[in-house]
Amino acid sequence: MKILVIGGAGYIGSHVARAFLDRGYEVTVFDNLQSGFRENLFVDARFVHGDIMRPEQLRAVMAEGFDGCVHLAALKSAGHSMLVPERYSEANITGTINLLNQALAAGISPVIFSSSAAIFGNPHYQPIDENHPKEPENYYGFTKLEIERILEWYDRLKGLRFAAIRYFNAAGYDTQGRVKGLELNPDNLLPIVMEVAAGLRPKLSIFGDDYPTRDGSCVRDYVHVSDLAEAHVTAFEYILKHNKSITVNLGSETGVSVFEMVERVRAITGRPILAEVTGRRAGDPAELVASSSKARELLGWVPKQSDVDTLVRSTWQNYLKFVTP
Ligand code: UFG
Repeated sequence: MKILVIGGAGYIGSHVARAFLDRGYEVTVFDNLQSGFRENLFVDARFVHGDIMRPEQLRAVMAEGFDGCVHLAALKSAGHSMLVPERYSEANITGTINLLNQALAAGISPVIFSSSAAIFGNPHYQPIDENHPKEPENYYGFTKLEIERILEWYDRLKGLRFAAIRYFNAAGYDTQGRVKGLELNPDNLLPIVMEVAAGLRPKLSIFGDDYPTRDGSCVRDYVHVSDLAEAHVTAFEYILKHNKSITVNLGSETGVSVFEMVERVRAITGRPILAEVTGRRAGDPAELVASSSKARELLGWVPKQSDVDTLVRSTWQNYLKFVTP
């Protein structure tokens, strides 16, 4: 089976490409390398340098014929999306429409789409299941929700089958160390804590300790990126078997606070981590925890590597190279 992984050189995309390769699929990665890394390209996958903003480049690669496509090429900083929404409209909405229209023309279905828990906005209840109200608080989340809606229409009108996979907080690295690219100027908690542990940045700012949570810091649902990647393969196989689209929330269903995460990183790395509590970050809900029962029931998906220790250890192995003896 041949799979096209668009955005397959990025952090999540490279783990997804690896998961398909490990299951014996023939994988082509299509990426503009804007936020993806050459070092994330695997020798057993084919690479096409291309951009979803260029429909002719999509047409050329898709003409080769694929049994399905995974779409992970997007801008993903929630904060940034509020400053330059027009860039997010182009990259995330126009780019995805280009991709879907070319997939339709080439007869490529299903499309597995990277969606996000950002579509839900401030939680009305916990854990967050698929039916939770969709009220994105940032433009990034809005773009993901728009694409989910387009996918539903294309399914109805054109028979394009899709999986919309809503990630909670993706974290960790391939435990075998096969993914090496580290995100530059990361926005997310774990890579930032790792940079402090490795001596690449002086300290961590903890955004608030006065939330109504067990220790006052925000609680999130961290899910290992290889567990997420696995779900893409399973969702693809589910659609082939049932000829039915599927939308699922994916998280570990376990809440971890910022203080708890920092403590585990201290314990595992043995490094002091200077942390200072600063004010709350705008738009941060106190707690976000997924219900993944639908993924469990329909896909048999069970996270295997999403415990905090595996998340921390697998990330630390990539940051160790920066530590001077
Ligand atoms: N945090 C800090 N200090 C930092 C960075 C983060 O205290 O320097 C805290 C945040 O306040 C938050 C937690 O760590 O409470 C996690 O923050 P991240 O920025 O890593 O992740 P978010 O929960 O804000 O968002 C992430 C993705 C989104 C996605 C969302 C889904 O970045 O794209 O998870 O749950 F939509």
